[in-house]
Parts: sequence; structure tokens; C-alpha cells
Amino acid sequence: MSRKAANILSAQVILKPDCVLGLATGSTPIGLYNQLAAWYRKGDLDFSKVTTVNLDEYKGLTQEDPQSYYYFMDENLFQKVNIDKNRTFLPDGTEPDSEKACRQYNDILASVGQVDIQLLGLGHNGHIGFNEPDTFFKTETHCVKLTEQTIKANRRFFASEEDVPREAYTMGIKTIMSARQILIVVSGEDKAEIVKKAFFGPITPQVPASVLQLHNHVILVADEAALSQI
Ligand code: GLP
Repeated sequence: MSRKAANILSAQVILKPDCVLGLATGSTPIGLYNQLAAWYRKGDLDFSKVTTVNLDEYKGLTQEDPQSYYYFMDENLFQKVNIDKNRTFLPDGTEPDSEKACRQYNDILASVGQVDIQLLGLGHNGHIGFNEPDTFFKTETHCVKLTEQTIKANRRFFASEEDVPREAYTMGIKTIMSARQILIVVSGEDKAEIVKKAFFGPITPQVPASVLQLHNHVILVADEAALSQI
């Protein structure tokens, strides 16, 4: 799964060296980032002109916090390849004023131009980025209160459940849908049911990822377990 997804992202970087990649965190894309870094080390990929914009960031965490998504991206990709860090963007988790943080990120997104490929993972409740069920499809960057399910799912990365931030800044569904292409990676049997709902069920804000059925260029890359119900 990771290699196939990495092939698609690397083809984009080769075809358009100054592309804009929309990136995601979570455990699912780690193998993909490792593969991209390995191809970079081999001399097959050049990230020097690439711009990246990430989906989301926890509100209240600094870039140095090992649980922040900035830290994750730095550890898993940015410091392993020749990307210009001035061209890597995430929402500013340290900005306490949510409106300001979201406005600033929307401005950044507007200035970098259309995302060529947006990478996505899939939450157990169908969330994409941190767009939890019942998010309006028309939203841009906004501040979200994480659901209990998401807090529990992300608890494994923190010392205790109390340490998991309760809020996050995330690109909205409208922002995600405006990407030229979307690449969604999913693995594991625990995601099989939500894959079926998202891609073969009704399009509804209750399953945020179901909106992807309305996008004209979506690639789903998944392992057999995640596809076992379709
Ligand atoms: C988090 C992230 C999402 C990610 C999802 C699934 O909540 N905000 O962007 O896709 O979890 O994560 P995992 O890949 O670890 O299952």
C-alpha cells in the first residue's frame, strides 16, 4: 500500500517539480513517507522546489512538541529529504485565537495555489483531516472540537488520555475538495466498514469522507483487509 501510494506521489513530483502537495499525518502514511525518503536517498527524487501544506494541527502544541503534527512531518519526511522548510506549511497550533489561526492558514493556502495532490488518511468515523462527522461540506480551515472516539484513537500517541488536545485546526472539506487530485490511503480490517460506508454508502456529512464520491479524481490505495467488505 505504502509503495503504491508513494509511486503516485513521486510521479507527481517528477512530472511537476514545483508541485504543491497536500500532506497528512496519522500512522497510515508513515510507510509512504519512508518510501519517499528512500527514493530521495537513491537520487530518484528531488523535493527542492516542492511546496507542502498539511491538513491539520493540534491547537496548543508547539512545533517542538513531539506530539505536534509539525514534529511528525519533520521526523517522518521534511528532515529526510531536500525540501525547503520555508515552503512547508501547517496551521499554527500556537496561535490561541482560533479565528486568526484559521484566517492565516486560509491565506497561506490561497497564496500557494491549487494543491496538485492531497494525501488523506481515514478516521474510524469517516473523518478526513480533523473534519468530524456532521461538518458542513462547505467549510474552509476551522477549529474543531475532537470527538471522544478520535481522542481515544489518538490516545496511543500520548502519555495519557488527558494529554490529548481537545481541539485542532483543520483544513475544511471545501479546502480538501478543491485539490486537483486526492490520494487516500487506508489499511487494516478495523477500517473495512468505514471504507465501505465512505465509498459505497450515501453521501452525507455524517460520514465526511463520503464527500469524496463527488470529486472527479480520487485514488483510493488500501490493503486487502481495509477492502475486505467491498
Ligand atoms: C487523525 C488525523 C487524520 C488521520 C486519522 C487516521 O485523527 N487527523 O488526518 O487520517 O487520524 O489516522 P491513522 O492513519 O493513524 O488511522
